[in-house]
Parts: sequence; structure tokens; C-alpha cells
Amino acid sequence: MNRKYVIAIDGPGASGKSTTAKLLAKKLKYIYIDTGAMYRACGLRSLEMNIDLNNRKKLKNMLDHTEIQIKYSQAGNKIILNGKDVTSRIRESDITKLSSKIARIEMVRTKMVELQRDIGKNGGVIMDGRDIGTVVFPDADFKFFIIADVKTRALRRWKEAKEKGEDIPIKDIEKELIWRDRNDSLREISPLKQADDAILVDTGNMTIEEQTNYIFDIIKRGENA
Ligand code: DC
Repeated sequence: MNRKYVIAIDGPGASGKSTTAKLLAKKLKYIYIDTGAMYRACGLRSLEMNIDLNNRKKLKNMLDHTEIQIKYSQAGNKIILNGKDVTSRIRESDITKLSSKIARIEMVRTKMVELQRDIGKNGGVIMDGRDIGTVVFPDADFKFFIIADVKTRALRRWKEAKEKGEDIPIKDIEKELIWRDRNDSLREISPLKQADDAILVDTGNMTIEEQTNYIFDIIKRGENA
């Protein structure tokens, strides 16, 4: 692949976007950026500093003293929050809900979007999130919007949790996904939304391999067009 593209992958939680994006990045030898991890890190920081999200002054001070770094690796990126590896911690369920709450706040988004644009400015990047194709990189070379029905998504999360030794009732996972879908889609700033020029991919009946190859073929065809 000659040019270094910016590839945007958006969609709701557990739609398969991160798994696909990671595999695509490997195939293309691109950098993979999980922007959800950045909002999760902000959520964790607010918890550690005991910040009331309605207290904008304290929140601003927190953001001014928050540094998020990504250590790239083919084996999986590491998220470093103020020098500390928080890669596993930010996946825990208390942070999942908090990340969706903190992501509604404009000053938080402004800081994260700035960081994301800086990382992606030279291309060769696959970024996944909610607003990559609409706000962060509206001129991305390729945009995909990945969806799957909520039952399939809940089952995927349940299996992931099970593999980590956690037994969470599937109904609870489903409820949390529905809550987050609403919270992320109905917010005023940069809501979860398919960009007009994004390609819709329903992964409900696809394996990970199928969805990765499907997107990979579209990029290859686009490149040769
Ligand atoms: O992709 P994820 O589930 O790790 O994201 C966690 C939360 O972060 C999600 O509920 C909404 C928010 N988010 C966002 O608002 N914008 C993004 N680009 C990525 C995530």
C-alpha cells in the first residue's frame, strides 16, 4: 500500500470495531488508535481525583494535569496515564460507564480530539471511536460504521468477560450496552452517528475474520480505483 491513509472506524460498544481495527492495522502495518481508551483514561483520572463532573473548574484543572500516552505494540497498545500503565484497569465496568459520562463534556472532547488529530496527522493510522468519521477526521480516506444487534454484542462481551474469569449476567451487559448506546447517541456534542459518506458494515452474522477481510478488500479496491 503506497499512501498512508487515515481510516476511521466508528460504531457502538462491542460492535466488533476494535477487534477488526486491530487486525486491519496488523495487515496494513498501520498504527491502531482506540480513542475509547482515551475517554476511559479520563474517566479513571476523574475517579482517582474524586472530581465531580459538574465542577467544571476542577475538571479543567484535572485535564491540565492529565497526560495520556499510547505505547504502540503489535501485541496490543498500552495506555499510560500520567506515567502509570492503566491498560487493564480502564476495561473494568465502573470505568465503562464513567467514560461515557465524561465523554459528554465539551472540554474533555476538545482535549482528546486535539490529541487524536495530532497522532493521525501523518496518516498510516486506523482510529476507532464514535466521532472519528464525523468530527476528528471528516476527510478520512476511508470511513466505516460498524453495527451489530444488541444481543450479539452482549454475547461477545459476555464471552470476553468469561475468558478473563468474570461471570457477569448477560442481561446486565445488555442493559449497560443499551444505556451507553443512548448516552453516546443522544449527547449534544459529537454524538455517535454514521457519517454520510461512511460504509455501513453489519457484523451481526460475520466472524471476525470475515469482517476484517470485508473491510480490507474495500480498502484495497479503493486504492486501486
Ligand atoms: O469504545 P469504548 O467502549 O471503549 O468507549 C468508551 C466510551 O468513550 C464510550 O461509551 C463513549 C466514549 N467515546 C466517545 O465519546 N468518543 C470516541 N471517539 C470514543 C469513545
